[in-house]
Amino acid sequence: MARPTPDKVRRVACVGTGLMGGGWAAHFLAKGFDVSVQDPDPKAEAKLHRLLDQAWPFLEELGLAPGASRARLKFGTSIGDAVKDADFIQESAPEKLEIKVKLLPQIEEAAPKDIVISSSTSGFIMSDIQKESIHPERTVIGHPFNPPHIVPLVEVCGGKNTAEWAVDWACDFYNRNGHYAIKMLKEAPGHIANRLQQAMWHEALHMVQDGIATPEQINAAIRQGPGLRWAMMGSFVHMHMAGGEGGMRGFFQHFDMEKASVWSKLLSPKLTPEMKTKVIEACERMAEGKSYTELSRARDKNLVAIIKALRANKDWVKG
Ligand SMILES: NC(=O)c1ccc[n+]([C@@H]2O[C@H](COP(=O)([O-])OP(=O)(O)OC[C@H]3O[C@@H](n4cnc5c(N)ncnc54)[C@H](O)[C@@H]3O)[C@@H](O)[C@H]2O)c1
Repeated sequence: MARPTPDKVRRVACVGTGLMGGGWAAHFLAKGFDVSVQDPDPKAEAKLHRLLDQAWPFLEELGLAPGASRARLKFGTSIGDAVKDADFIQESAPEKLEIKVKLLPQIEEAAPKDIVISSSTSGFIMSDIQKESIHPERTVIGHPFNPPHIVPLVEVCGGKNTAEWAVDWACDFYNRNGHYAIKMLKEAPGHIANRLQQAMWHEALHMVQDGIATPEQINAAIRQGPGLRWAMMGSFVHMHMAGGEGGMRGFFQHFDMEKASVWSKLLSPKLTPEMKTKVIEACERMAEGKSYTELSRARDKNLVAIIKALRANKDWVKG
């Protein structure tokens, strides 16, 4: 079998070297892989080197893997040239379904049999992308976040014809190499985090349209408020803490969700008893048995560290 185990990968191919593909290439180089890339844009190679010039000092600061070197980058003359010896392929072509559908079989024809091919797509599901695939069982989505060489999250999911082993292989490979892979329970357009971001983005635009706040004020409301907490607590543990000593159970008892749902332009899901139990139990698992006092002490320590880090880096845009 041509496919190595995730710990034996030596060469990674990146198809498409724009913002995401370039970031992936930087990441894989920093992790000590041979990286072969391909992009049809005649300016792509120069653009990729500019991206690497900017990314490399930060990757050095985060710590390069032994043997990591920019000299291990090879710009392929064709897709076949870039993918023919790859142990894993990350596709980051433009977000157009017809491009991705046509590209996948081209990659597959030249790639070693059985190796995993992952798409960076932000919005499409793999069941749609793999429609013309030759071996759809090894095709997955590995959705990164900009910049993929720094932000850890990758959302991983297969399509109708993807084999379970391919999704597991991809998760293992990403996790071994510094990313935080989430294996989705099922595929959905926009995956997890983009859907959340989109909901907030829609609400932000509604508030501007309704004359409630300016874009500057909405930006500040996130940055000076919940944005600081989300990095450490996410939505669920944050709400668990909003319930005080009673946690999420207390939150559901004391907050009138029906009333709160009129704040939002989004429709609220039906909060059945089963749904509440599912959420309460998950929050209790995430809180790992810690009391409200213990959680709030950890929260405050992290908040102070985040605020100090932001204060120290003043070269950021205002608003
Ligand atoms: N931009 C983001 O923040 C972001 C975040 C996560 C995921 N993504 C996803 O990553 C993918 C790439 O997005 P991007 O922002 O890097 O776009 P981009 O436009 O910066 O890069 C796309 C690259 O693909 C190249 N390309 C065009 N046709 C190609 C082909 N047939 N084969 C190979 N390469 C081809 C282009 O020349 C370009 O360099 C998309 O699927 C997008 O949804 C983007």
